[in-house]
Amino acid sequence: MAVILKADKIVREFKIGDGTTVTALNNVCVDIEEGQLTILRGRSGSGKTTLINILGALDKPTSGEVVFDGKDITKLSEKKRDDLRRYNMAFVFQSVALISSMTAYENVEFGLRLAKIPASEREKRAKEALVQVGLEKRMHHRPGELSGGEQQRVAIARAIAHKPQIVFADEPTAELDTTTALHVVKLFKELVSKQKMTIIMTTHDPSMMDIADKVYTLEDGEIVGE
Ligand SMILES: Nc1ncnc2c1ncn2[C@@H]1O[C@H](COP(=O)(O)OP(=O)(O)OP(=O)(O)O)[C@@H](O)[C@H]1O
Ligand SMILES: [Mg+2]
Repeated sequence: MAVILKADKIVREFKIGDGTTVTALNNVCVDIEEGQLTILRGRSGSGKTTLINILGALDKPTSGEVVFDGKDITKLSEKKRDDLRRYNMAFVFQSVALISSMTAYENVEFGLRLAKIPASEREKRAKEALVQVGLEKRMHHRPGELSGGEQQRVAIARAIAHKPQIVFADEPTAELDTTTALHVVKLFKELVSKQKMTIIMTTHDPSMMDIADKVYTLEDGEIVGE
């Protein structure tokens, strides 16, 4: 297995209002293998969101390297980091940010427009992605006409439709009930095993751990288990 994304000795400090410094991540090293589902787990405040944001080029570390495809992406210009996020990566968040006036299909198709996929390919790709998440029968429903789990699956379809190299999901199951949450994680597992996708997700739910290929445990900003 090849390492597609690597974090090396990451430190992330935040300066807060009263002038003190919070160390959210301290000397964190992780290797994300291509074609695997990696889980970052840990209690609230342990640094999961900070780490996934740094891995996904949404934030920069105070020190340390993030190597993607052989390049240290912390040194790239904002424009290059923006391109990386738009074309090579995809994001799924805890609260599903779908456009409420658009159907499931339109939401996914709109995402493809943003990724500058040519019009001739958008319909095929959008439908394919919705089939992959098992929503072929709900394509023309608006978010308000879908369950919470179905809405999260639309968000996942939107994320995978442009065939990103890596999908980042920060607590994608936090707002779902246990059964629905398990379905979403199983879907991730299926995308990894059948479509060879690379997915990184954070969670504090212990029931998800056996599904992952690799689990990193964070405690107070440090990796304590792998
Ligand atoms: N912008 C910020 N400014 C100051 N401190 C921050 C900032 N973002 C995060 N922190 C601090 O860094 C630590 C890690 O936060 P982070 O959001 O990464 O935790 P988390 O593991 O994702 O928690 P949760 O499970 O609640 O989402 C916390 O102590 C938090 O207070
Ligand atoms: Mg978080």
